[in-house]
Amino acid sequence: MKRLIRTVLFVGFVFAMLLVLASCGKKDDAKNETVTPTAAPTETPTPTEVPATPTPTPNPLDEMTLKDLYKDDFKIGVAIPNSLYASKAVTEEIAANFNSMTFENESKPDQILDIKGCQSGLPDTYTEPKVKFDSIKRGMEYAKENGIAVRFHTLLWYQQTPEGFFTEDYQKGSPKVSREVMLKRMESYIRQVMTYMEETYPGMVYCYDVVNEAVNPGEGDPDGLRAKSFWYEVVGPDFMNYAFEYARKYAPEGVDLYYNDYNCYSKSNQILKVLEPILAAGNIDGIGMQCHLSTSTSVAREVIGTAKTFTKAGFKVQITELDIGTTNTDNGFEIQAMKYKVLFQGVQKGKRDGSIDIDCITVWGIHDSVSWRGDEYPLLYKWNGYKMTKKKAWYGAMQDPAIRAMEF
Ligand code: GLA
Repeated sequence: MKRLIRTVLFVGFVFAMLLVLASCGKKDDAKNETVTPTAAPTETPTPTEVPATPTPTPNPLDEMTLKDLYKDDFKIGVAIPNSLYASKAVTEEIAANFNSMTFENESKPDQILDIKGCQSGLPDTYTEPKVKFDSIKRGMEYAKENGIAVRFHTLLWYQQTPEGFFTEDYQKGSPKVSREVMLKRMESYIRQVMTYMEETYPGMVYCYDVVNEAVNPGEGDPDGLRAKSFWYEVVGPDFMNYAFEYARKYAPEGVDLYYNDYNCYSKSNQILKVLEPILAAGNIDGIGMQCHLSTSTSVAREVIGTAKTFTKAGFKVQITELDIGTTNTDNGFEIQAMKYKVLFQGVQKGKRDGSIDIDCITVWGIHDSVSWRGDEYPLLYKWNGYKMTKKKAWYGAMQDPAIRAMEF
């Protein structure tokens, strides 16, 4: 009899425990379902992946870093301005989490081209422009000390390039040079930059953005090439073909050459069309997708889908300027973290199944206070005056199981 009572009590206890556990699970699901987007959702939410699981304390991800998590998949990059090297809190966090870096502005033509030297050096400088490299010294030293590979951004761009580069006497407003002279200046510039980088910092630059933002179908020529650009106006629609030809000529063996652009999903056909002859000539390796996104971006369609299209067409892919704008609310940061998770998860999956030939994901800045989109809080860290704090977005990029991989 006693034994029967003990058995009944035991079965009852187990049954009660099961009920408690089941109701806990429901509560978690319900909590997750209450997440509602505040930042202009475009579609009904559809979970694309497994639901979140509660965060353990301490979170084991805090013992890990981005570059270690993705070491077998792709590099993790960050854009850095010179002003940040003075902060130990920042440089230590970067060295721990990133193995690729881009100069935010310091390697663009308006910093590398020595326009005064070009003017005073005439006539010798007429087809041999003067260049200077002071702006990148600090960053290259930092990269060297910490074993960080450098993606060089950018050789040719319609912006942040002095107008004087295109004129007879290197002065703004003067008559433009001929196509022939401009091609000589272009070749000389590319040769001088690549030669200097390789001689001074051997093996450190692993890829170049040869041309940035040359496709703009809205205001472009019939092929969608941006027509309002001095490169287009002075050299002509084939200026990119020459840029990549020269870049290949002077790039060290194994260094990749990229075309880089924004909103690639909306103009992938035009991009592929203008790059076709360059690819056929063997003068380009990859396409950089900038990816300045928001919480209403469909990452699956705009990022993952486009990366697959470019891979299929024979290009390597990089995400080169990632940031995801949101609102300054808990909900906004929650959705931002989900977007980061969907992106990193989707790209990693594509890398592993061979549908995305991704080489690096670069975030465009380290913390919100130094972002060019600072009022949209788009990055992985925030800064409280003396210390870096990881945002939920960082945990999203780490694919924290406590963050759902959701698309809105
Ligand atoms: C473009 C450029 C970057 C940077 C951003 C704005 O995306 O490619 O170099 O200038 O604009 O910060």
